[in-house]
This record gives sequence, C-alpha cells and structure tokens, in this order.
Amino acid sequence: MENNTLKAIELATSLQELEDIRIKAFGKKGNITELFVLLKELEGDTKKIKARELNALKSQIESALATKKEILKAQELADQLKKERIDMTLFNTSSNYGSMHPVSITLEKIIDYFVAMNFSLRSGPLVEDDFHNFQALNIPEYHPARDMQDTFYFNDGKVLRTHTSPVQIRTMEQESFPIRMICPGAVFRRDYDLTHTPMFHQVEGLVVEEKGKISFSHLKFILEDFLHYMFGGDISVRFRSSFFPFTEPSAEVDISCIFCKGNGCRVCSHTGWLEVLGCGIVDRNVFAAVHYENVSGYAFGMGVERFAMLIHAVSDLRSFFESDLRILEQFS
Ligand code: DAH
Repeated sequence: MENNTLKAIELATSLQELEDIRIKAFGKKGNITELFVLLKELEGDTKKIKARELNALKSQIESALATKKEILKAQELADQLKKERIDMTLFNTSSNYGSMHPVSITLEKIIDYFVAMNFSLRSGPLVEDDFHNFQALNIPEYHPARDMQDTFYFNDGKVLRTHTSPVQIRTMEQESFPIRMICPGAVFRRDYDLTHTPMFHQVEGLVVEEKGKISFSHLKFILEDFLHYMFGGDISVRFRSSFFPFTEPSAEVDISCIFCKGNGCRVCSHTGWLEVLGCGIVDRNVFAAVHYENVSGYAFGMGVERFAMLIHAVSDLRSFFESDLRILEQFS
C-alpha cells in the first residue's frame, strides 16, 4: 500500500490528480486514515511499533506530496506561459488609433497660416538665462513679471522661460535683418487653475526690416487676417492700447466673442470681447540689446492653449493635460 501511494504520487501529472491521491490517503475514508483507526485496536508493544511505522509512512507520503506539488505547480505555470505567449508577428486588426492632441491641432493651424505668409520657424532653449528671458527684452530687475510667484528659478539664476520672447533676442543675435519668423514652443509659469497650467505653449512672431519699412498697419493687417483665418471671417477684431516692456506702442488684440457673437455671456465676462494676443512695435531698447541699428519691426505673442480652448469650447484647461482618453478622443 505504501508503495502504491508513493508510486501514484511519482506518476501524477496534474495538481488535481495529486489532490485526489492526497484525499485517497488522508481523507475521512482514506487508507492511511483507516490504518490509524485500526491502530486503536492494537495493544502494548505491537501498538507502539505499528504507530511508529505508520507515522513514518505518513510523513514520507506528506513530504512526497509537497515535493511533487511544487514540481507540478512550476510545470503548470510554464505550460500557461507557453500557451499565452503573444505572437508579435500577428497583424493587428483593431481600429483603435490615437488622435492628434487638440493643442497640436491648434498649433499646426497657427503655423500653417504664418508659413503661408512667408514666416520661417525658429526655436530656442527652454532653460533661459536672465539676459534673454528678461533683460534684453527691456524687463528691468524690479519688474513684476520676474516675481518668484510667476517664474521657475534654478539655483544658478537661470529660469524656465516664461515666454517665447527670448527667441526674438536669440534670432537677432544670430542673424541679420530682414527677419520674418515665428517661434512656437513650451513656456512655464507657476500657475494652476481653470485657465492656467504650469506648462503651456506660445507662438511668438517677429518681423524686422530696414528703418521706415515697418509700421503698425503691417502688424494690424497680418493679425486681423490671421484671426479671421482662425475664427472665421465674420468675427470682429479690435486693437486695444496696452503695455509690454518689449514693444512701444503696444496693443492687446480682442475678437468679438465667438460664443455669444458679441452680445455678452459668461465666457467673455459679459463684455462681448475675448482677448487673444499681445503685440506691438519692437521697443528701441530691445534693438539696442542686440546691437541692431536703423531698423524697425513688429512683434506679437499668443497662447496656443487659449486658442484651443476657444476653438473647442473647453472651459477647463487642465483637461487637456490629464491624458484622459475619454476627453482627448473627442477631438479625433
Ligand atoms: N511675451 C508676452 C507674454 O508672455 C506675449 C507678447 C506680447 C509677446 C506682446 C510679444 C508682444 O512679442 O509684442 O505674455
């Protein structure tokens, strides 16, 4: 009998089979269990000897069961892994494609316009020094834009660029006029609410020509035309006198509210107008910082997310960056 059980354990090929063997030996009516019952009828030395033999047999079987169990478990896992192996050469028939991010869609549309208008593309570093991000742009040391609240500073005094305007400086340092460029890119500010995220995108524009060849009307034409391209021919555009350190005169540009057609609603704070960009005639101090003489130029800057929010009627900017497919899929 002992040989039978041990032999069966040795030959078992599955965990289920092994479990059946264990029950047959140690279950309520198992043969080892029954031997223990029979033991009660013996007496004296015979009982002692038989008990010792039976206990030895019991632990022999138990350890054989445990060893075999480990072997079969490992084998079953190996079999399962083999069965579930992924065939990387199979053709994928699912139609679950990704889609362009709404910010990318908007950025591409902006770039398309300016490239068609003969602007070329420039870029600059995300980690900027004080000179390019502030000083050369006529932003003096005490200017509120430098506030620790807004700017991410590094220990060595460098910053994560707070706008794309430093690329104006870098372009003029490296090239001579005429210049006709836009520079799209990420910018960083310490802000987080419905309409602000710590990283967002801007597109900067700069046109520089010989002195006298650029006037505010050139700037006005291109931006009006651009905004009609972005928001449709029936919106109104207005230039509102404003201030930027790097332009003089400066203006902010508004479009008539695309949600209420200018009648006043919650989105436009009941003014009928939506502010969409900043611009102006390049300040002479900016030209002086890059040693440009006898030139005139205009510049403008806009937030890509702001455009994307308006175009897609999204009220919480943060939803663009939470990687929630249920939201992003709607733009495909
Ligand atoms: N740099 C400005 C900002 O981050 C945007 C801007 C406004 C850029 C006016 C310009 C400009 O070039 O002329 O808010």
